[in-house]
Amino acid sequence: MSKDRVVVVTGAASGMGLGIAQLFAANGHPVAMLDVQDELLASESAKLRATGAKIYAGHADVSKRAEIDAAYAAIRKELGPISIVIANAGISKAVDFLTMPLATWQQMIDINLTGVFHTIQAALPDMIEHKWGRIVTISSNAAQWGSQDRAHYSAAKGGVIGLTKALAREFAKYNITSNTIPPQLVDTPLARKGAADGEVPPLDVIAAHIPIARAGTPEDIANACEFLCSDKASYITGQEINVNGGGYM
Ligand SMILES: NC(=O)c1ccc[n+]([C@@H]2O[C@H](COP(=O)([O-])OP(=O)(O)OC[C@H]3O[C@@H](n4cnc5c(N)ncnc54)[C@H](O)[C@@H]3O)[C@@H](O)[C@H]2O)c1
Repeated sequence: MSKDRVVVVTGAASGMGLGIAQLFAANGHPVAMLDVQDELLASESAKLRATGAKIYAGHADVSKRAEIDAAYAAIRKELGPISIVIANAGISKAVDFLTMPLATWQQMIDINLTGVFHTIQAALPDMIEHKWGRIVTISSNAAQWGSQDRAHYSAAKGGVIGLTKALAREFAKYNITSNTIPPQLVDTPLARKGAADGEVPPLDVIAAHIPIARAGTPEDIANACEFLCSDKASYITGQEINVNGGGYM
């Protein structure tokens, strides 16, 4: 794969997004890391720059189009046109459906679904112009078999899967592929917080029900992203690539 292709990763300060940014940077790609955790983003991006990697790091709330547009303008200026987008940023919180306030539902949709719309739509003109592009969305197993007390999250992630497939059809003619990875249990700060807050059992208890009896790592997800964004994956589009230890099949 051409090493000068610019990669945008949202939610890149932590967890899977950080692991994905680290792998693309290690492979020699210019990487744009976007997040809302400014201090963490600054420290993690500094570590990557210290390895010699070409990194843009900036604040962008994916639910705010103006912030995405401003970040992309800066990325294009510093790194060049965007070829690869990993729409990873997301939140998750258990909430009882019967009493869920509309604002809670709306915030989930704004970040986890509309955020993916902004992240991808704003990058597509570069991919279309250069007739090459790769889109990977990080959805969730919650959309495949539902998730207790996460109706809003499951619905948003289901939307992400539909969006990913629709884009695969609409933009295949430009040599742009669009695939989604729906993880189940990945050992990240988000997953650990869910367990610490008592929303889900401890990670090792959940992992015992997965055929490959461990939680996934950010590297497991990053490895799949690397392949999907390579020239070797040019005939794979519109797919749900399950990287889940066999937890759902
Ligand atoms: N960890 C799991 O087991 C698991 C399972 C299935 C799906 N997912 C999904 O994977 C993705 C990454 O999750 P993670 O586990 O690495 O979590 P994480 O909390 O470690 O990382 C998510 C990052 O997204 C950032 N973020 C949150 N809201 C944002 C916004 N509005 N704009 C920009 N950045 C924002 C956070 O600051 C954080 O750095 C999420 O979309 C999540 O829903 C996680």
